[in-house]
Amino acid sequence: MTSLKEVYKDYFDIGAAVWPAAPKTHAELLKQHFSSITCENVMKPALIHPERERYDFEKADALVDFAIQNGMKMRGHTLVWHNQTPGWFFKKSDGSDVSREELLTAMTEHMKTVVERYKGKVYCWDVVNEALSDSSGGFLRDTPWLRIVGEDFLDHAFRAAHEADPDALLFYNDYNESDPEKRDRMYALVKGLKERGVPIHGIGLQGHWYINHPPMEQVREAIEKYASLGVILHVTEMDISVFDWDDRRTDLKEPEPWMFEAQAETYGKLFELFREYRDVVKNVTTWGVADDYSWLDNFPQKGRKNWPMLFDVNHNPKPAFERIIKF
Ligand code: GLA
Repeated sequence: MTSLKEVYKDYFDIGAAVWPAAPKTHAELLKQHFSSITCENVMKPALIHPERERYDFEKADALVDFAIQNGMKMRGHTLVWHNQTPGWFFKKSDGSDVSREELLTAMTEHMKTVVERYKGKVYCWDVVNEALSDSSGGFLRDTPWLRIVGEDFLDHAFRAAHEADPDALLFYNDYNESDPEKRDRMYALVKGLKERGVPIHGIGLQGHWYINHPPMEQVREAIEKYASLGVILHVTEMDISVFDWDDRRTDLKEPEPWMFEAQAETYGKLFELFREYRDVVKNVTTWGVADDYSWLDNFPQKGRKNWPMLFDVNHNPKPAFERIIKF
């Protein structure tokens, strides 16, 4: 079978998000098609640093080893986020908030330990994840990072990550990246960081998309706008849901006949766009490997099966795969 990473070797890396069992359950697909992996969860603060004095590196180490053994690049995900971050970062044992200084110290120590450990093995990091607000009102999202540290928490995060590994490429990562309002905020955020001399090298476009959304023109405009900042772009968490965002039906046990064709069309157009912008798009990662395992089986509707990947539940290539290898 044609290898996806071979087809794209002159364009960009092809990545997949993986979990601890994936090197066994999805070994063949991973080895044949992917040149980069990201830990779906095990490098997140809640899993790698569950208590102030306790780190748990075992699962992340194993995935890093798998990447090295198979000549794959490893993306680091993620360091500063409001989700999947243990409460001890933000609260004292009496339940009150830690101080700004205490939170910045915890952040720096976390980066020093985690980023330094994987120096030379993890080539890039999603340093800050989802710091922008969704509503058009506020600029930054209301999180403990913002409340306790203030708006400069991003500056501190990128500087600390850079200090821990000066060779790592550092990313700001977020979703709804092509929505015009959020896009303009993301542009302004990264522009500000760059103007202040903060070390940031890339923007991560999560790419949680749908068969009919977003409009291709908006994705193109977003790519152009971000690229004008002189940063590189990674598509970090791509999947294409077969359901629209507000379609919450739960009765579908098998995909409807038209769905995989429509999905192939969307994957095809997006990959065409990424190829066109290969000077700035350097990695395209799917958030999973095949349809037998996806976070979308539980989001936005718990227990509702979705089929968002390039390979089906039996690990066979779907129409979307066939579409993106032909150009
Ligand atoms: C966000 C995060 C990811 C992951 C997905 C859902 O996009 O960045 O780490 O949690 O949500 O799985």
